[in-house]
Amino acid sequence: MNFSVTDNDFFKETSLLSKEEKKGTITHKSPSNIALIKYWGKHGVQLPNNPSLSFTLTNAFTETRLEFATKKEGESKSEISLEFWFENEKNGKFEQKIRKFLESLLPTQPFLGFVHLKIYSQNSFPHSAGIASSASSMAALALCLCDLEKNLLNTLQNEEEFYQKASYLARLGSGSAARSVYSNIPITTWGQTETIKNTSDLFASPYSLPIHAIFQNYQDTILIVSAEEKSVSSRAGHALMEDNPFAQTRYNLAHSNLKKLILALEKGDTETFIEVVENEAFVLHALMMCSSPPFILMETGTLTIIKKIQKYRQEKNIPICFTLDAGANVHVLYPKKFEKECLTFIENELKPFCFEGKYLIDQLPVISK
Ligand code: DP6
Repeated sequence: MNFSVTDNDFFKETSLLSKEEKKGTITHKSPSNIALIKYWGKHGVQLPNNPSLSFTLTNAFTETRLEFATKKEGESKSEISLEFWFENEKNGKFEQKIRKFLESLLPTQPFLGFVHLKIYSQNSFPHSAGIASSASSMAALALCLCDLEKNLLNTLQNEEEFYQKASYLARLGSGSAARSVYSNIPITTWGQTETIKNTSDLFASPYSLPIHAIFQNYQDTILIVSAEEKSVSSRAGHALMEDNPFAQTRYNLAHSNLKKLILALEKGDTETFIEVVENEAFVLHALMMCSSPPFILMETGTLTIIKKIQKYRQEKNIPICFTLDAGANVHVLYPKKFEKECLTFIENELKPFCFEGKYLIDQLPVISK
């Protein structure tokens, strides 16, 4: 494997493009992911300011179908030709976003100008659930684009190379999407760190270190506290880190939390796991609260749920914990062996604080032996 990869390795000439007319359909399905070590703060072209680590989900995913046909002679090859459908309807807003993304890729992936593209995308989870879909949707799209490249240019024959490129392209669409291209890999990391060999800022990689049995098929129940659009976009949130007085402390903390988490994952140490995971969630929200301008992304229900989880953990001695993304919803994490009692607890005690009583049960992909 070549990890001295640079941006140049992902650029593609069109000289490989054959003259023959081609058309076809490509489909990919990509899962959502939840970061335990958070990516918050970036530089350059979508490069993370610290390494991140995430759990891959199973039930929350985006499925994307890409139909392509090569352009005829005389048609402009320097423009993106795109139609975008979301959940069976033409969607102008999303089409514009995807068009902008594809246009940003054109200088380095000029083959994209040689085809008419129709993209159909749908999520397994309701659009109004307040669940970020940029990770799963950008990942599914990036996988489709890599298959398109494979088809048109006969490149990316090697599986590892294929996924690295997909993760690279997904990252350019949305940072966290870099970690969503690996459907059947339970844990993914993105961002260079000495602690894990062969990591890169350019793309995410499957987690290669030992994982204790207790963390295999870990459960994540996503409590929908608010279905509203976030008051600050991720893009704006990341930008606020540039002037955050605690930024450097945060980046150092991400490295040390990652080190602790790696050991906990290996040893099956749920206590340290909980300490690190909840700390990462609190720090993410604390950073937003002390940004200029400040943002409070938790709702009253978020805090009530967090307190209830911590109390239940103490009383029952069950290693249940939470994490948050940049919003009000709560991801409740627990080992498979405590599934029954945790789901009863969620149903009886946490559901009343969910928007319309909504929550989504999810889990890590099961590793086939
Ligand atoms: C809090 O990946 O949504 O979920 O790169 O601007 O698209 P962009 O940001 P995005 O940021 C995710 C932030 C996070 C933490 C994480 O997933 O690591």
